[in-house]
Amino acid sequence: MRALLVARTRVELEAALVEVRTRGGRVALVPTMGALHEGHASLMDVARDRAGQGGAVVASIFVNPMQFGPGEDLDRYPRTFDADLAVCGERGVDVVFAPPVDEVYPGGEPLVTVDPGPDSHSMEGTIRPGHFRGVLTVVAKLFGLVRPDVAIFGEKDYEQLTKIRRMVADLCMPVEVVGAPIVREADGLALSSRNRYLDPGQRVAAVALSRALRAGVDAQDRGPDAVVEAAFAVLREVPGLECDYVTVASPDLDGTPETGPARLLLAARLGSTRLIDNTAVTLS
Ligand code: PAF
Repeated sequence: MRALLVARTRVELEAALVEVRTRGGRVALVPTMGALHEGHASLMDVARDRAGQGGAVVASIFVNPMQFGPGEDLDRYPRTFDADLAVCGERGVDVVFAPPVDEVYPGGEPLVTVDPGPDSHSMEGTIRPGHFRGVLTVVAKLFGLVRPDVAIFGEKDYEQLTKIRRMVADLCMPVEVVGAPIVREADGLALSSRNRYLDPGQRVAAVALSRALRAGVDAQDRGPDAVVEAAFAVLREVPGLECDYVTVASPDLDGTPETGPARLLLAARLGSTRLIDNTAVTLS
């Protein structure tokens, strides 16, 4: 059984990295905001697979203020550090980096940040202006601090994953980015730290997101408009559910193909809780 090293500061992180790097294997990073669930645990399993038994898995736990807009859930975002450490321990993580805000942003918000490109070309970026600037800036910082060989992100945040891939390519960052499949509850709801905000009635209603995705997949041989319409028809029927968007795009979210591999993405609100989900479709 390996010892789990917990680093709160950059100096402690560096010391922990020196220790695990002496093993000589690859370093795999799993960036998280905590409130860990089986979806995060599956990212840690992928990280171990990529790092190998001789390598090291580093998980970061940091609720990044820069990626929350005014009126979003920064203050109520679940913070469950002791339970998170237990998950990391069970999944064989070597180093947990859990810094306070001023360790990541010592001088407040940085002057130089990562521009994700025009928000108007983005689904989440349009609805949450500044969100991806915050995500990419903190991920770039984590890459700089941990210097991982490989980093694992969930496909649940599919647009985030494509933006991170694009940042790594455009800014020549020496990190392999790996996307890991969405983990779902038995009834289809994608695991998310925000699911715990749902009251029992909303929890039942939330299953509509994955039902909408399945309806979209069932319509995939009728083209992108039919896929969107089929998914939207499911969401429209759910009382109290407000749909933000349903869209079909190419796998890198760069345009809408008429045929071939594509991604169906949707976002909806139940009360003050916003949920997103997505799936692969093959259009014909
Ligand atoms: O997906 C998340 O949990 C966050 O957006 C990330 C990648 C850890 C950056 O804060």
